[in-house]
Amino acid sequence: MPAVDALRWNARYREGRHEYAGGPRPYLTENAHHLPTRGWALDVAMGRGAAAGFLIDRGLNVIGADIASVAVRAAKEDWPTLNAVVADLTCFELRASSLDLIVNFYYLERSLWPAFRRMLKPGGVLVLETLTQAMCLSQPDTDPAFLLAPGELPTAFADWEILDYREGWNTPHGRSRRATAGIVARRP
Ligand SMILES: C[S@@+](CC[C@H](N)C(=O)[O-])C[C@H]1O[C@@H](n2cnc3c(N)ncnc32)[C@H](O)[C@@H]1O
Repeated sequence: MPAVDALRWNARYREGRHEYAGGPRPYLTENAHHLPTRGWALDVAMGRGAAAGFLIDRGLNVIGADIASVAVRAAKEDWPTLNAVVADLTCFELRASSLDLIVNFYYLERSLWPAFRRMLKPGGVLVLETLTQAMCLSQPDTDPAFLLAPGELPTAFADWEILDYREGWNTPHGRSRRATAGIVARRP
């Protein structure tokens, strides 16, 4: 329901209710040594653009896409060179082999994964981190469709070169404990 998602997320950003307004996600900064510093990157569901800004500062040209126009506008104000796009990522694709890096934090849209493979150049890098089904242990009302199954990422990207994989509980920036999985993988 993309239209409903846009309304819901715009309201959250307008009211400052989005959980994560800090800098780039620690999983991105901790894996910075795996990232290219030239070329083109896509930040999938970039929100306020913390990851996009981090990548711009590292020398990349960045396209940041999100369905929430409020967040996209704020990101563009903070990083004027950002190629900021309001887009529904359930039907989104860029030119084949056009990207050196894709980052995808806390937005799980499995139908995009084949497009990640097409859009990345051979040797391009994907960084993806989001919540896992273990979250249901502490938040039973969480919809499992939006959570990763155990070991799902390394299975889905089995023929890629896995540069990093983590699955478990962490406490990002002192917030409540989260069950997450993150992968850094190089496209064959
Ligand atoms: C939990 S936030 C994550 C934002 C950012 N990646 C981060 O790590 O802080 C999820 C984001 O997904 C966006 N989103 C939800 N549905 C979307 C859709 N269909 N197309 C594009 N973006 C969508 C929301 O607007 C929101 O910014």
